[in-house]
Amino acid sequence: MEPKLIAGNWKMHGTLAECIALASALREKARNQTERGCEFVVFPPTHLLVPVGHVIAGTGIGLGGQDCHVARFGPYTGNVSAAMLRDVGCRYVIVGHSERRGPHGETDGQVRSKAQAGIREGITPIVCVGETTEDYAAGRATSVISRQLIASVPDTAMPERIAVAYEPIWAIGASSSATIDHIGNIHSAIRSTLGGIFGRDKALAIRILYGGAVGPESAPRILQTVDVDGVLVGRASLNAAHFLSLGAPSN
Ligand code: PGA
Repeated sequence: MEPKLIAGNWKMHGTLAECIALASALREKARNQTERGCEFVVFPPTHLLVPVGHVIAGTGIGLGGQDCHVARFGPYTGNVSAAMLRDVGCRYVIVGHSERRGPHGETDGQVRSKAQAGIREGITPIVCVGETTEDYAAGRATSVISRQLIASVPDTAMPERIAVAYEPIWAIGASSSATIDHIGNIHSAIRSTLGGIFGRDKALAIRILYGGAVGPESAPRILQTVDVDGVLVGRASLNAAHFLSLGAPSN
């Protein structure tokens, strides 16, 4: 079985000095944490991938990009490509985060192209999906997510080389995560939609992460839920001790 994936999205947080301090704390703590059984990956701000990568080199903690452009290179001011991310050591790229789908107007089709760009460069896209507060309140979460998956997950991907993150928009940055029942129901619906896309057996190899207000208290139960193969974490990833404790088994 694949180890659980613990992905820390630093978003647009931290000066150079702060990000280096966070990376150094991760390195120190990772050194003392020999029994992990989880795969940890951090997603620093793009311009700090290289210095952060140097600090965490050799710790087993991986590096990822928060977004990518669909092209390899070209006249795209302000963008970064999957090829550039791979060049600086990224193994993963987040695509279709709601903070990009919403404010930047990214469509499912664009998210799919970004995921394909990641796959083309040999880095694993984490394709984010999730319902709005209104869709959740109206009981439409499952149908919205299924539509997003069908339109934004490339069906030609090798199942081991793609991951999906379920992030209900109403839980991101909230005081508590979605309930275990809700997470379990949605993740099993996601697995069955992926089964429709890839076939049942292949869909079992796709890691499905949960994201939205995950912290050291909520993570153990979430990670034990059926069809939850990891977590995508914002705030709690900005504290090295909290982040590395997310993979610890519950008592
Ligand atoms: P949060 O963010 O953990 O701060 O809620 C989650 C995310 O946006 O991935």
